[in-house]
Amino acid sequence: MSVNKQRWWKEAIVYQVYPASFLDSGAGNKPGWGDIPGITSKLDYLKHLGVDVLWLSPIYKSPQADMGYDIADYKDIDPVYGSLEDVDNLISELKKRDMRLMMDLVVNHTSDQHAWFLDSRSSTQSSKRDWYIWKPAKYDKDGNRQPPNNWSMILGEENSAWTYDEKTDEYYLSLFTAEQPDLNWENPDVREAVHDVLRFWLDRGCSGFRMDVINHISKVQTFPDADVIAPDHKYQPGFKYYCNGPRLHEWLKNMRAEVLDKYDTITVGEMPFVRDENEILKIVREDEKELNMIFIFEQVDIDNEPGKYRMTLRDWDADEIRKIFSHWQRLMIDKDGWNSLFVENHDNPRSVSRYCNDSDEFRELSAKLLCLMMTTLAGTLYVYQGQELGMRNVPLEWSPEEYKDVESINYWKKMNNMYPGNKEKLDFAHYLLQRKARDHSRTPVQWSAEPHAGFCKADVTPWMRVNDDYKEVNAEAQRKQNDPDKLSVLQFWKRGLANRKEHKDVFVYGDFQVLDENDKKVFAYKRASEKEAFVLALNFSKDEVKWQVPEAAKVKKWVAGNYTAGQPDKPTSGTITLRPFEGVLGTSEV
Ligand code: GLC
Repeated sequence: MSVNKQRWWKEAIVYQVYPASFLDSGAGNKPGWGDIPGITSKLDYLKHLGVDVLWLSPIYKSPQADMGYDIADYKDIDPVYGSLEDVDNLISELKKRDMRLMMDLVVNHTSDQHAWFLDSRSSTQSSKRDWYIWKPAKYDKDGNRQPPNNWSMILGEENSAWTYDEKTDEYYLSLFTAEQPDLNWENPDVREAVHDVLRFWLDRGCSGFRMDVINHISKVQTFPDADVIAPDHKYQPGFKYYCNGPRLHEWLKNMRAEVLDKYDTITVGEMPFVRDENEILKIVREDEKELNMIFIFEQVDIDNEPGKYRMTLRDWDADEIRKIFSHWQRLMIDKDGWNSLFVENHDNPRSVSRYCNDSDEFRELSAKLLCLMMTTLAGTLYVYQGQELGMRNVPLEWSPEEYKDVESINYWKKMNNMYPGNKEKLDFAHYLLQRKARDHSRTPVQWSAEPHAGFCKADVTPWMRVNDDYKEVNAEAQRKQNDPDKLSVLQFWKRGLANRKEHKDVFVYGDFQVLDENDKKVFAYKRASEKEAFVLALNFSKDEVKWQVPEAAKVKKWVAGNYTAGQPDKPTSGTITLRPFEGVLGTSEV
């Protein structure tokens, strides 16, 4: 049985807002971009849904080279989104509703327009020179200038992670884009400056942080060349030398003791590329005193070719879903760590499109199937804007020019350079964009069937095109749906979240047991507290499946499912039929 102690942040439902695409109230400074007053105006909608914590993707002053993940001033708001007063107002409106704010802390790097970097690059003698990672050039045997090592840039895969600065004739490390120079955390002044940023926001009333690529802050100081995994590329992923580096734990413990523990906070670290259990437990075990939880990427990497770049695709089945989720579920229960649960965020395609089937026939069922899974697993639950509506990827008919994300733009450019005029290769690259690009989660939220889906005024052009399906898929229609036999996706989520809270001893803190180890289509599990238990059977395939209810399930009654608003009509033992993407929830003997 679970050893996990009860904490408010474990029970919280966190809702991620991507500010540019949430709602343009017209009050911000840039027509067609969402703004803070727009977010504040939707707090009742979120409260009604069951949300406790609002996580805002970055709203700080930024040139927007990477949509705000390039910060030019940590203590000011980008005028596009509003002002500090707007944030104060948002915080006080959240408090009135017993909700909290989580900010996005992006401190692996800043913008190249941040005052610290402008100073740092001004001269090798600058007092801020050592706030970033500067290295001299290397020269090859022909005397050509080369970057200090072979690491590739993460959002511009074919480029070097090092950017040359003509003025001082040195390179700076910029793992993501040239506009996002990496901070030098080895310098204690940098660490103190980060603590100061944390305190600034906590004192203003924010309750915690999602920490952007926080496992990249400590780099192996010899900066060795990365192993060659892609021989046709000049530069290679250097993860091994900057993910979970030598001083990460020291710095996280320090941040916790110096700052976070002085407040009542929620913390989640974004940690790509890490899978090592012991390494993860060192961060999230309660007694380690580092972070409350992290985002582990295994379920969103499910369709990448192993060891390859993100823009790749492979097939997978429910067996893998089961293995991934049950592994982390068990580990955190057994070892007193904590999970974050997520299948969507601003860096991933829509979950109905990725994990299930987003055709008109199956989109709603798919969204509800994923909701059944997410609301019944252990961990802090993260819902991404539009996920509660079952929003899907943009269609293949959209040309690559509609994609606005720096990663997509760089990828498309690179493929065109590598394969000019090669229709087959470029069609496949376009197909990959349609499956994997980050843009799919960044289209404006579909509020209604009004022009631009109600995201902005009719005479304004949204910064990114609205998905074509908004007349059918939108919040207003789903809120108003009045069908005794069928809940809308939004209504289903609301019910699921309420159910999770009502039975938190089971769903948040209870034990987890896989029920069927081998089925390639159905993921089935049992959750139990000392007093009650539930069983889930989730068919992740487009096929009708005859599924043998396992002995251990001990189902008393099927109480909910995604095909009807009422109780599923199925026997509780023997073989049951699960229709395509059908999921059912049953009560069970403890
Ligand atoms: C994180 C963010 C992503 C951003 C990157 C660089 O992965 O989620 O959107 O591009 O960090 O800050």
